[in-house]
Amino acid sequence: MQYTMALDKMKALNLESSVTRSETDEVDGVPLPKKVCDRWDQIWNFRARPDDLLIATYAKAGTTWIQEIVDMIQHDGDTEKCKRATTYLRHPFIEWVLPGPFSSDKNAEVMPSPRTLKTHLPLQLVPPSFWEQKCKIIYVARNAKDNLVSYYHFYRMNKNMSEPGTWEEFLEKFKSGQVLWGSWYDHVKGWWEAKENHRILYLFYEDLKEDPQREIQKVLQFLEKDLEKEVLDKIIHHTSFEIMKDNPMANYTFEPPALMDHSISPFMRKGTVGDWKNHFTVAQNVKFDEDYRKKMAGTSLTFRMEL
Ligand code: A3P
Repeated sequence: MQYTMALDKMKALNLESSVTRSETDEVDGVPLPKKVCDRWDQIWNFRARPDDLLIATYAKAGTTWIQEIVDMIQHDGDTEKCKRATTYLRHPFIEWVLPGPFSSDKNAEVMPSPRTLKTHLPLQLVPPSFWEQKCKIIYVARNAKDNLVSYYHFYRMNKNMSEPGTWEEFLEKFKSGQVLWGSWYDHVKGWWEAKENHRILYLFYEDLKEDPQREIQKVLQFLEKDLEKEVLDKIIHHTSFEIMKDNPMANYTFEPPALMDHSISPFMRKGTVGDWKNHFTVAQNVKFDEDYRKKMAGTSLTFRMEL
């Protein structure tokens, strides 16, 4: 099977620790890895199919979590089927069209329908075929402060990202949208508005954490699936942070260590709401809130920063 082969290649791939951090460029003012910008035409012309399901998030908002939930739903709670390959091979990352065996476009092209795909793109950069085909989209948003903290640690451990700088520097870059995939504020607001006119299920990380059963029910309804209570319980268990942390098909430990160094910060780091309190100083928090109020003025979108 094609995925198994790709996994074997992945294991055999022993990249030197000399991997350098990615360069950044921009598409319409949105910072993206240069290698993504270099292939932008190809990404923009992605051919969506009407039965594609797109999972869209700002990076570190709980993408992998909702991917595992969706996969479990689609496979009626069969954990073995969900361990057929790593998250990124199960669900091609549409803008990650890098050459090589793990190229998402090659994966997506050969993948039988119905496909589940992933993107971190802000609304305005989503390839138009997704709108033309009226694809269903699940969006997960996470409160800005926890999202920022998670992103900072991800930058530290992942050489696909540029240098994060210090915490203070990264905090400022996040506020001004000078991080990869751009402004968190524009991202969450853009998708929030889009749900009025498109088939978008808009979920929140904090809600998933508070009551996974209630939120998974929403996903079931959106996907027009009905599952026995027993299967639902199994999905909740299999997609809990504790289980996913130890699942090599979901915790990104299959990435070559030279790219993702889990000893710096594990991909499955804390999985909580409110960890920002361990990072922000009182002064940083006051300034952040002040700026946040301005950037989020005029939207009906609200977040919980703690549970
Ligand atoms: P933290 O860094 O705060 O721990 P993404 O998949 O979008 O990259 O998001 C990663 C974040 O989601 C990480 O947050 C990770 O720990 C968290 N996460 C992943 N699976 C989770 C789960 N099952 N429950 C709660 N949080 C989860």
